[in-house]
Amino acid sequence: MAALPRRALVAGNWKMNGLKRSTTELEKVVAGAGALAGKVELMIFPPATLVTAFAATVHGSEVGIGGQDCHAEASGAFTGDISAEMLADAGAKAVIVGHSERRTLHKETDVEVRAKALAAWRAGLTAVVCIGEAKDERVSGKTLDVLGRQIDGSLPDGATGANLVIAYEPVWAIGTGLTPTAADVAEAHGFIRERLTARYGDVAQAVRVLYGGSVKPSNAKELMGVANVDGALVGGASLKADEFLGIANVYR
Ligand code: PGA
Repeated sequence: MAALPRRALVAGNWKMNGLKRSTTELEKVVAGAGALAGKVELMIFPPATLVTAFAATVHGSEVGIGGQDCHAEASGAFTGDISAEMLADAGAKAVIVGHSERRTLHKETDVEVRAKALAAWRAGLTAVVCIGEAKDERVSGKTLDVLGRQIDGSLPDGATGANLVIAYEPVWAIGTGLTPTAADVAEAHGFIRERLTARYGDVAQAVRVLYGGSVKPSNAKELMGVANVDGALVGGASLKADEFLGIANVYR
């Protein structure tokens, strides 16, 4: 593939999947990462219970570990929640915030997502901020309006190429096997890049924008080849090391 101005990132979101024995899959990812060194960055976002163990497993390798969500506060009386500081303490380098499953199932708003992104930065983590339109919004031609609103509302000031990654994930493409056309992905990513540039200036050129939603080895080449797509956020296909590496291998 043509050289990217930004280093590609392929990130695996394990969602609520994974037990201690899943470490064997991570070990396979680590083993496969060597051949991809310098070409693509790899990250795995396991459930919080596995962050400490996974961070130990990847130690000294090219693979990074992240959390799937964090609370906006550093500590306090928030039963069941986990702070960005705790994830950093456990060895995480990044945290996903604003995933559509959090926005939908936990009713998270742009304001809350923004506060979580700031919490990530406070703890020294990269915030992977997810945005994306629902099916009815796409059908009614509102995709770019929704993305613009989410960018304006969910992103704090002060972004850099190191502290922010955007994941564009059409909600209707997540876990469904459906994907937008390459032209639709190009339109969305071009719009996101423009909007980031209007907001952050030249710094926006360093911010990676991932595509997510039913990425698998068979469609990764086409999707990753679209202008302004800097990698993938992978759900289901990230649970198997072979599939995850099959996607990352697009950048070999
Ligand atoms: P999927 O999930 O790859 O299983 O569609 C993507 C995501 O939710 O990040």
